Amino acid sequence: MRISVFRTAHFNAAHRLFNKNWSQEENTVVFGICSSPNFHGHNYELEVKVTGELNEESGMLIDLKKLKTIISEHVETKFDHKNLNMDLPEFQNLIPTAENICITIWNILRNQLDLSLDITVRLYETPRNFVEYPA
Ligand code: NI
Repeated sequence: MRISVFRTAHFNAAHRLFNKNWSQEENTVVFGICSSPNFHGHNYELEVKVTGELNEESGMLIDLKKLKTIISEHVETKFDHKNLNMDLPEFQNLIPTAENICITIWNILRNQLDLSLDITVRLYETPRNFVEYPA
């Protein structure tokens, strides 16, 4: 019997949408004020969905305390109160759009969770703008 469990998390972070190969003018055309040189912040809300086969002996899919710890140690601690462009090696050559942040978090969690579990990450950049990976 397949089932999904969810865990939500939160972090605050600054970023700037900027493609190094474009001029500031070109960046402004594409990214608008999100490309402002001095960065800006978001209150990111994260929703992690883990899907797999229910373990009938334990009655659980995954120990939620374990999932909480993994998200806390590998995502929240890493992203919270950081300047994503400057502080995280992942974004040295990757524009920290909501899409790319979401995929980066998925990759981090993929390395931490058993391969029998499917992972979906939804990231809210604002209450009205959010992305999900995989699509
Ligand atoms: Ni932004």
